[in-house]
Amino acid sequence: MSLRAIVLAAGRGTRMRSDLPKVLFPVAGRPLLAWVLDAVAEVAPDETLVVVGYGAGRVQEALPAGVRSVVEEPLLGTGYAAKVAVEALGEVAGDTVLVVPGDTPLLQPEALRALVAALPGATAALLTTRMPDPAGYGRVCRDGDRVTGIVEDRDATPEQRAIDEVAVSTYAFEGAALAEALRGLARDNDQGEYYLTDVIGRLAAVGRVRGVPVADPAEVRGVNSHAQLAEVAAEVRRRINAAWMAAGVWMLDPERVYLDASVSLEAGARLYPEVHLEGSTTVAAGAEVGPQVFATDSALGPASRVWYSVLRGAEVGEGAQVGPFASLRPGTRLAAGAKVGTFVETKNTVVGRGSKVPHLSYMGDATIGEGSNIGAGTITCNYDGAEKHRTVIGDRVFIGSDTMLVAPVRIGDDAYTGAGSTITRDVPPGALAVERSQQAEVPGYAAKKARKTRQKG
Ligand code: UD1
Ligand code: CA
Repeated sequence: MSLRAIVLAAGRGTRMRSDLPKVLFPVAGRPLLAWVLDAVAEVAPDETLVVVGYGAGRVQEALPAGVRSVVEEPLLGTGYAAKVAVEALGEVAGDTVLVVPGDTPLLQPEALRALVAALPGATAALLTTRMPDPAGYGRVCRDGDRVTGIVEDRDATPEQRAIDEVAVSTYAFEGAALAEALRGLARDNDQGEYYLTDVIGRLAAVGRVRGVPVADPAEVRGVNSHAQLAEVAAEVRRRINAAWMAAGVWMLDPERVYLDASVSLEAGARLYPEVHLEGSTTVAAGAEVGPQVFATDSALGPASRVWYSVLRGAEVGEGAQVGPFASLRPGTRLAAGAKVGTFVETKNTVVGRGSKVPHLSYMGDATIGEGSNIGAGTITCNYDGAEKHRTVIGDRVFIGSDTMLVAPVRIGDDAYTGAGSTITRDVPPGALAVERSQQAEVPGYAAKKARKTRQKG
């Protein structure tokens, strides 16, 4: 006897009004289906088979190693999906077959364990829950404590619609009974589909079917619409944030912190509201992030400070400061104690230990040594219209405000540039480079101008 799991993921998700297969919509950076497969993996089935159909190729690409798929063609409903899967599994007599929908990402492994545990002595067990608003769900029909069937919302009578106990597409079946019931399935319903829910009625007519209640309806909430996707995402967010807070992360307002499941934080990290961390982003102990930071695939070092900024593929060293209003693009690396300040954009740029780019600058394809200061309004002119070139700035350099550094160009250690200079040639170590016209004064200009105006008038 073995445990086989079937995950139903072939539907388009028409109500999402999107070309993206519904099960690939992300929650905390991972497809809905990945969350479901995690819960399924926890009950250690001998085999997991995913039924794909709409966007089959894309869904297959998202499957983890070791998970098989079978294509449902044409798409004829959950009953047909189960039939295709059972046929692909081959001999299932004596096996426990778990069926789980691909669109309930909050499902916990405990519920699946309870379902499997309830099966002995019955032909089927199904998860049920009570919903204050059961609209859209199949209703569980009972005769006392026996389940007699499931009726779909659209096929239900007004009396049946009043039932608040719903089925959530999650079942454990005795294999032979399931295969037999699927063979006899018809599609004489409102949608002309094969309903897996009808299997329950058929099995209940000849044997015992157990309902396994789940106390919290949120856990088995399916995603059929964007509104439901947002609700589920909010719940996942609560869980992720609660786990990080339990692990020692401070959040001023956890409702307004958005973390991908793939993000990792150290105890002692501090997150202000409107922080979005995605991909492989990491935040070290003592780092203060936010308000208003979007960071993807970035590393925020210990005791760094990042606020009101966007970071993509950036590395922020220990004690480094970013923002407010900085944009760190891929290949940006700030060494310990470096600063990239207000209205500064960087790309493919290394800012050395203790060096500062405090205001209104663009540093692209640049290497800045240690202890250098880049004056306000400095720009690396890295692009000549055809190619990108590097700017190399040494240690302890002072770049005057509004310097244009026309790359390729090198500024030696301890060198200076005068404010407003356009630097097109390398500057040797220790030198001052100034490139601007001499200033001229016209003495008494204001008085002369005033006299002229009076004569005209
Ligand atoms: C289904 C159930 C309903 C239950 C509800 C919530 C049926 C007929 N109805 O309705 O009783 O209350 O789930 O859990 O089963 N899928 C396929 N192939 C198909 C159609 C669907 O693989 O041909 C997959 C979908 O990708 C999805 C799952 O089955 O992951 C459920 O399909 P969905 O269309 O969301 O069913 P509901 O209308 O929600
Ligand atoms: Ca559904």
